[in-house]
Amino acid sequence: MTEPTDKTKASRRRFLAGAAGLAAAGASLRAALAENAKNLPPNVPDWTRTLGDGVGVRAYGNPSKYEKDVVRRTVSWLTATPESSVSFTPLHALDGIITPNGLCFERHHSGIAEIDPNDYRLMLHGLVDKPLIFTLDDLKRLPRVNRIHFLECAANSGMEWRGAQLNGCQYTHGMVHCVQYTGVPLKLLLEQAGLKPNAKWILAEGGDAAAMNRSIPMAKALDDCLVAYRMNGEMLRPEQGYPVRLVVPGWEGNVWVKWLRRLKVGDQPWYTREETSKYTDLLEDGKARQFTFEMDAKSVITSPSPQALLKQKGFTVISGLAWSGRGKISRVDVSLDGGRYWRTARIDGPVFDRACVRFYAEIEWNGEPLLLQSRAMDATGYVQPSKDALRKIRGVNSIYHNNGIQTWALKANGEVENVEVG
Ligand code: MTE
Ligand code: CO
Repeated sequence: MTEPTDKTKASRRRFLAGAAGLAAAGASLRAALAENAKNLPPNVPDWTRTLGDGVGVRAYGNPSKYEKDVVRRTVSWLTATPESSVSFTPLHALDGIITPNGLCFERHHSGIAEIDPNDYRLMLHGLVDKPLIFTLDDLKRLPRVNRIHFLECAANSGMEWRGAQLNGCQYTHGMVHCVQYTGVPLKLLLEQAGLKPNAKWILAEGGDAAAMNRSIPMAKALDDCLVAYRMNGEMLRPEQGYPVRLVVPGWEGNVWVKWLRRLKVGDQPWYTREETSKYTDLLEDGKARQFTFEMDAKSVITSPSPQALLKQKGFTVISGLAWSGRGKISRVDVSLDGGRYWRTARIDGPVFDRACVRFYAEIEWNGEPLLLQSRAMDATGYVQPSKDALRKIRGVNSIYHNNGIQTWALKANGEVENVEVG
């Protein structure tokens, strides 16, 4: 999909919608042209007539060349430089709950630090009895755990506060991924160092050029944070913080410090840039919410969606993702009429605490226009709000923490557009 270049809202939306339509038309045309009768039954197809690549040719496997469009994408006008920017997960092209490592969205403030694991050190100091420095091997020798969690950037859906904006769930919701992490409980490291009685906060700092840092309450650090070095079994990707990142289950992505270099224990927060001028929520009355760490329950229909058009009438599977930073997802509802009538969706696959769940709703589509919505509920009883309900309490000055219900308008021709219902 071509990315937008214009900054005015209307033309930007038209551009995105047009680009999606053209891309889809082009894809089906190419598919039709490419279809080669000699490969179709009852003939023996080309790939059965010759030997394929032997083992070892593909030392590190890649997806099929026919899946080359399933990639992270950027929107260049969103940010001034690619080093301080974001790429988005192609949610519309994925299923299940796990995000493949190469497709996890990236958010960097100063580009990707390339760290030699031999030179890697994690420093733990401040209000502790015994300051410590860990090598990567030190961390790998300690007892480890495996946890599946989502990570959502607080700015996910941030462009949508003032109305429907970007045409595709990759862009509206693609700052989320869900991965299995392997790492050491942070509690273990803190216990090794020994906490002073007034140890109430911890500063986590990255080793990238931004030295990005955030204050985290000690209760959270001792509860479920991990110092992780693996994702989905293999070592972290450089983009995701190789060799070590902090995992802070359920909390905004910004506190999941990558390329983790330093942990300092203190008696109060540090009020760093990322928790004062950024990652606070400016309300209508001019006050700002601060330290809004937990990500509220949210969901999105990933297919059909603007980048995943509906090609056929008849039996159709609606599919989507839901997650909550406050616990397990308990239920997901789907509406076909913009939120007037809700049906309970079918959750399939494992339901983990503060992880993505996959939901489905099977429908018979006879070609009528629909207004597709999903709403998530979590174990605390919280129900994902409409965008208007959210604006009533939070105004429209915010960038962060937009978990309002998304609406996709499915048109008679199978195209899908990002809209809002009044
Ligand atoms: N850590 C460091 N050191 N530098 C960064 O720029 N970005 C943060 C966080 N940790 C960042 C960082 C933000 S805003 C988010 S949303 C997540 O990392 C993104 O993690 P990902 O790139 O693995 O998706
Ligand atoms: Co972020």
